[in-house]
Amino acid sequence: MQDFKNKVAVITGGASGVGRSLAFSLGKRGAKIVVGDVDKDAMQKIEADLAEADIESVVGFCDVTSRDSLGELAKKAIDKFGGIDLAFANAGISSGESGAMWDYSEKDWQWCFNVNLWGVVNTISVLVPHLLARDGQTHFIVTGSGNGGLIVLPDQPIYTASKAAVQAVTENLHNQMLAGETNVTVSALFPGPHVVETGLFNSGRVRPEEFQKGDGNVNSTGITSVDDLRAMCAEYGIDLKSTHPDEVAEMAVEGIEKDQFWLLKTTPESEAAIKRRADNVLNRITPVPEQLGS
Ligand SMILES: NC(=O)c1ccc[n+]([C@@H]2O[C@H](COP(=O)([O-])OP(=O)(O)OC[C@H]3O[C@@H](n4cnc5c(N)ncnc54)[C@H](O)[C@@H]3O)[C@@H](O)[C@H]2O)c1
Repeated sequence: MQDFKNKVAVITGGASGVGRSLAFSLGKRGAKIVVGDVDKDAMQKIEADLAEADIESVVGFCDVTSRDSLGELAKKAIDKFGGIDLAFANAGISSGESGAMWDYSEKDWQWCFNVNLWGVVNTISVLVPHLLARDGQTHFIVTGSGNGGLIVLPDQPIYTASKAAVQAVTENLHNQMLAGETNVTVSALFPGPHVVETGLFNSGRVRPEEFQKGDGNVNSTGITSVDDLRAMCAEYGIDLKSTHPDEVAEMAVEGIEKDQFWLLKTTPESEAAIKRRADNVLNRITPVPEQLGS
């Protein structure tokens, strides 16, 4: 897809971080933007900011754990703009688990898989039929993570597991689109190359009542921002680099323009980690934990 002018892009989790940057990156190229999110304050802000930037948009409440809620967002997009050309299954959270995995609250597992995996599955179920029905080429982009999708980092086992599943779903969606010779191109977006400066470490702000752990402790790590993470890494002698979400959005949009499956920017360190994983499998080498920041 080389020309985004008047194309309609639906972005879940679009009010903050990577999703918000995607909205502006595509909007500046002439696309019409539909943002779905559950964070009402962030939604109000992006609605005002998109209007100020003269980007045509609809911002609506959309909880990706509910197909009905996604259906309402799709209806808003179609009522206002007539169809959908690009769909971003981007909403994601980190449930802030830490310590031994056998001690994790089942609420941590359930919330993370509900948003990160079921959110993607639901978005496929609700939005792909609209892409298939559209004349011309359309695009479905899943925001995964190198953590889980490509390598296994040791710090957030629930998040990592959810993103490993997301990658399997994304690749098979791609396979099915190829097999069916459809008009939908699928891409896997890996925000990076470093930790991205977003609200992901403060996901507890949108944690629903039903997934509260009951002990009042929404985030066991005590880390609620990239700066907190950087400070913790410094204590272990690790210099944590970070990436601005605008950089991720530009990388993604440039990859979509080229119909690339892998929307992925690597560093020598991350490439070495991916190679180590492949080598471990091929040579039956027992893995040792990767380090955060690799
Ligand atoms: N920040 C990173 O370093 C990083 C790295 C790799 C992958 N990612 C992925 O990028 C994606 C975007 O996250 P981000 O880093 O921009 O964080 P973010 O917290 O800034 O944005 C995520 C958005 O998703 C929304 N959201 C949460 N639950 C939702 C739900 N049930 N329905 C709809 N929206 C919901 C939040 O309100 C928020 O606006 C996620 O899938 C995340 O896993 C982030």
